[in-house]
Order: sequence, then C-alpha cells, then structure tokens
Amino acid sequence: MDILIRDILAVLPDGVRICSVYVRGGIIAGIDEKPDGFLPEKTISGSGRLLIPGLVNSHTHAYMTLFRNCADDLTFSDWLFGRVMPLEDKLTDEDCYWGSLLAISEMISTGTTAFLDMLMFMDATASAAAETGIRAVLSRGLSGACDEDSGGFRRLREAKVAIEKWSGYENISFMIGPHALYTCSEDYLRLAGDTARELGLPINIHLAESSSESETSLAEHGCSPVEYIDRCGLLDSRTVAAHCIRLSERDIEILAERGVTVATNPASNMKLANGFAPVPQLLSAGVKIALGTDGAASNNSLNMFREMSLLALVHKGVTGDPQAVTAVEAFRMATLNGARALGINAGEIRTGMAADLAVIDLDRPNMQPLADPVAALCYSASGYEVETVMVGGKLLMERGELLTIDKERVFAECERICERIGTR
Ligand code: NI
Repeated sequence: MDILIRDILAVLPDGVRICSVYVRGGIIAGIDEKPDGFLPEKTISGSGRLLIPGLVNSHTHAYMTLFRNCADDLTFSDWLFGRVMPLEDKLTDEDCYWGSLLAISEMISTGTTAFLDMLMFMDATASAAAETGIRAVLSRGLSGACDEDSGGFRRLREAKVAIEKWSGYENISFMIGPHALYTCSEDYLRLAGDTARELGLPINIHLAESSSESETSLAEHGCSPVEYIDRCGLLDSRTVAAHCIRLSERDIEILAERGVTVATNPASNMKLANGFAPVPQLLSAGVKIALGTDGAASNNSLNMFREMSLLALVHKGVTGDPQAVTAVEAFRMATLNGARALGINAGEIRTGMAADLAVIDLDRPNMQPLADPVAALCYSASGYEVETVMVGGKLLMERGELLTIDKERVFAECERICERIGTR
C-alpha cells in the first residue's frame, strides 16, 4: 500500500523540517521525492503534527505488565525473589499472552514500534506480536545449570523450538537470553553462548545491575560481573546488556572493546534503588547505548517518552553538567541506537529504511509553543500525544485508536488474571 504523509514537520537525520514522506511496500520510498507511479491509498495530513521514527524499547519483559503496581518500594532482592518470582510461578502461557497484549497496547499508544523482550513463554509473546504487528525481538529467559533438574535444558529446548516455529514472521526475530550471572551456572552461561553462535543470534543479558550481583561475582569468580561474563564468551558487538550500573573503568573499556550495546533503564534502576548506569562515562568511552523501560513490575510504565526524560534529567542532576546527556542524545538512544541493537533497519526517517513511524499531535497545551521539537519530545511530551503509528508501513494506531488490539478485552482479561494470581 502506498501512504503519503504530507507536509509534516519531521525529525530527520540532518535536522527538523517540513517535508512529505512517501511510504511504499513497508519502506520509506522517498522524502520530498515522489517515487514513480506513486498512488497513495491513504494520505495523512501533516498539519499541526510532528513525525518521528518509532521508538525502540531495548529492554523489557512484556508479560510483566500483569505485575504493574503490585511490587513497589521493595529492595531489589525482596522485589525479585520475594515478590516477582513467586508470582511468575503462577503464570500460564495464556496469562502471558494477555499480559503481552497489554504491554503492546501501551507501547504502540506511546509511539514504540519495536521492543527487545526477555520472557517466560515464547508462544505467548510471539502470538501477541504476530497479531498486533509490532516488531519484537524475543529471548526466552534462561536460568539454571547444565542438567534436567534445574530446568536449564528445558528452557533452552523451549527457546530453540519456538525460534524454529516463529522464524517465518517478518516482524519477529530472536536473541538468546541467559537471565543473569546469579541465576545461571558458569557452564550454562557458556552453553548459552555456544547456542547463540550456533544459531547466529545475539546475546541478551542482565548485567551489573545490583551491588549484590557485584559482590556475588567477586566472591565466586574473583572479578567484576562484566569481566566474568566476558570470560564466559558472551560479550561481542551484537550483545545487548541491560543495566550495566556497577562498572569499573576496566569494565567500561571491555564494553567499548567488545562493541556491546548497553540498554540503560533509568526508571527501573532508580525504583529498585540500584542507582543508574554511568551514561556520560560510557558515552565518552564510545560505548553504544540504547534505552529501555524494563518490565512494568519495576518501572511501572513502558512509556519511552518518560524514559527519555528521566535519562536526560538524572545525569544532569547527579553530575551538575546540563549537557551530561542532551535531548538529542536521549532521542538517538531511544530510536537509532535501539534499532541497531535490535538488528532492525529503522530508527531514522531516511529513504530505504523501514516505515516504522509515529505521528504526534502538537495541538496540545504541553506542546505549545513548540520551539525545539527534540527538546519537546524529551522534556514536555507525555507520550500520549502520539496519535498514529505504523510498523513496516502497516497502520497499528490511527488517530488514537488501536487497530490491531481489542483494548477492552485485554484490560478485562488482565484484570481477571490479576485477581487469580493475587497481585492486590
Ligand atoms: Ni529486566
């Protein structure tokens, strides 16, 4: 289908200006240059609107929307081992399908067009992504050891079966997801690395998130989490490592040398009182940085606008440097850097890239006067100004209405699940 987005203010790689964007076959086929024989079946008027590349959530757990607002103000270990894991034990495949649909509803509503997920039930989140059309990079959370008793082999088998099953979907791809150093034995971490290489897939892992993780690593392995995970062969130029809060100078060098992408999650890190990643130092060292929300159990939102704002603000606050992370840098981490980390040809409004786009309504008090649009996206937007979203040229939301999700049904099913598992 040919779609014309006409005369719209757009955030382009070389600046912000009014242009017309031609979408054909799921791709941005031209900017101000009409492709041959272009006959738009749909025209979106740009009047009073802003066009941006769709946002990329580089670390989340979609099914965990079921745990929203039910595990708050706890220490990291009380949160994970005392609250989240016992609730997870009660979840079924179907529960996670509805939880994933709720997550996807929230993400599309706030302009996110792709996400990297670590999950429990591959079929649940893959079905939800396939039905709704959002781009999803899925990694089965792997924990345990190289044996049957711990469930380690079972989880890896489930991952492989699901990768085979869902590999034909254009909007779904995969990573191998060893959960963290403290939930996996060393031989299991190495097995995850071997599996990733065998299947040609990247690694997605939680890394250096809490002080207890650093203490465990030092006591059991005699080095930092980054050094240990590197020794296990899991860090390379396609690895996405979430959090990376507790880092030494040597750790930062390793992340830069290996070309790892750090997915920073400021809201989750602050909420669990883990601190925050040393983003300004990572930037100076040339480490690739993307942005994620983490799951709704620790955020409690999957809104990337809020995350951009926090990212830019927190580092100014702690360093005393207003340029520690600028609005332009935060926006780039939430778009192009995320798309690259996820292996997606998107993240910029550029001819030849996938038409993963979000249209923002500027006719809102908090968006007036607009002055600098990127500053507005980072500091004054709430995220719910997004009114139209497309992924690969397919409309998923139009004028605020989700086109591929029955929102009322999703809310009702999630409410029913939460009552059963007892999140209140
Ligand atoms: Ni996480």
